[in-house]
Amino acid sequence: MTPSDTDFVSWFRSSAPYINAHRNRVFVISVGGEAVADPGFAHLVHDLALLNSLGIRVVLVAGARPQIDARLNARGIEARYHEGLRITDQAALECVREAAGTVRVEIEALLSMGVANSPMAGFRIHVASGNFVTARPLGVRDGVDYLHTGEVRRVDAQALQERLAAGSICLMGPLGYSPTGEVFNLAAEEVALAVARTLRADKLIHLGEGALPRDEHGELLRELDLHQAASLLNGWRAQGDLHGEAVRLLDSAIRACQGGVRRVHLLSRQLDGALLLELFTRDGVGTLVTGDPFESLRRASVDDVGGILELIEPLEREGILVRRSRENLETSIDDFVVMERDGMVIASAALSLHPGDAMAELACFAIHHDYRSHGRGDRLLRYVEREARRQGAERLFVLTTRTAHWFQERGFQPAALDDLPMERRALYNLKRNSRVFIKTLDR
Ligand SMILES: CC(C)(COP(=O)(O)OP(=O)(O)OC[C@H]1O[C@@H](n2cnc3c(N)ncnc32)[C@H](O)[C@@H]1OP(=O)(O)O)[C@@H](O)C(=O)NCCC(=O)NCCS
Repeated sequence: MTPSDTDFVSWFRSSAPYINAHRNRVFVISVGGEAVADPGFAHLVHDLALLNSLGIRVVLVAGARPQIDARLNARGIEARYHEGLRITDQAALECVREAAGTVRVEIEALLSMGVANSPMAGFRIHVASGNFVTARPLGVRDGVDYLHTGEVRRVDAQALQERLAAGSICLMGPLGYSPTGEVFNLAAEEVALAVARTLRADKLIHLGEGALPRDEHGELLRELDLHQAASLLNGWRAQGDLHGEAVRLLDSAIRACQGGVRRVHLLSRQLDGALLLELFTRDGVGTLVTGDPFESLRRASVDDVGGILELIEPLEREGILVRRSRENLETSIDDFVVMERDGMVIASAALSLHPGDAMAELACFAIHHDYRSHGRGDRLLRYVEREARRQGAERLFVLTTRTAHWFQERGFQPAALDDLPMERRALYNLKRNSRVFIKTLDR
């Protein structure tokens, strides 16, 4: 086999658990009209078709903002916005109808491609679109009449569920209809949010133009819980950013999680294959916002020493973890990461770097007894691995007496004492007779 064959085989094997986990799940995916206008849009649509063929229930909500503006422009009408929302008069509504219709037809055409040499050869996709959204006028706000701009009043969950269960991709646009027979222009992102909340979707995925949440060093924030997401959003707003894409999408993510959507992914559609990388690789390429209540995962501070001691003492008594004194914890607290829920430390991990060997040690890895078996161990390990990579480690090792299988199931390989950094070997406690496991970290 060539190296690329080996890569392919290992990649395909590693994606299998995700394929199984996503089958029959409902994903609501929103894209802006900018994506539709991009020459690379066909790739994205074919990726959506691939998700459909893997048994994922896809609702696609496509916006048409630039297409609407282009039509207004061509007619010499100025686009009017207030607080980031379009004011839709009769002439603008005509443009909205035309643009939304054209976008829909384009997507339907791309999803119908089945010719040889296209990624969809031999597979027939059914697309369902219709009057799934009932709307009402936004009305007058701050003295401004939004005219035919509306907001979602109701989503026909049953109709959508039936189409999805039958295997169709549901395609929606920025339009809603009122019981009085009027058409309203809606923000596509709001439609996606309302659909995700009504269906209690497994995921809401926003494919934006690339304004993703970053930390103060400019690094992508990969995972945010509701608490972290809300404080980030408040910070942006305090700096005067009220309607930017990142603000809109993070706000939508928070409201989705509050409304029962388990996970929201913020991705850049500029990256070819972003959807597949996010859904079928461990780390993904975007920001995941989770609705897990008030469980922040963060670096520890001295204030956490008491909480960590409480968490690990029972495990030390059982001989599962090595005994650490309060003083030892206080001096090494910078190595620690904790998971906090309602002010209580419910998980901890310590990461110490051996830069000379590009290795890091994972220790003191524990989840509070009452909170086990809900994937927190996995979440904590992912966080620690990312942190280790960020600090320059290529391999992560752990010494364990009773948790060998848990680590092996997560890619750690049995190793010998000699494989450890010299200074760590010298500290090895022969009486404990721990086993050594090493995991090579993906770049
Ligand atoms: C190991 C530990 C961190 C896992 O945390 P968690 O939040 O329960 O982990 P997850 O929810 O991600 O995974 C749960 C799975 O791990 C399995 N598991 C738990 N402990 C295990 C062990 N010692 N060996 C093998 N598998 C184990 C569970 O059975 C469950 O699998 P299942 O769903 O197939 O039944 C947690 O059990 C713990 O704190 N144990 C005590 C401390 C410890 O052993 N730390 C490692 C020291 S080096």
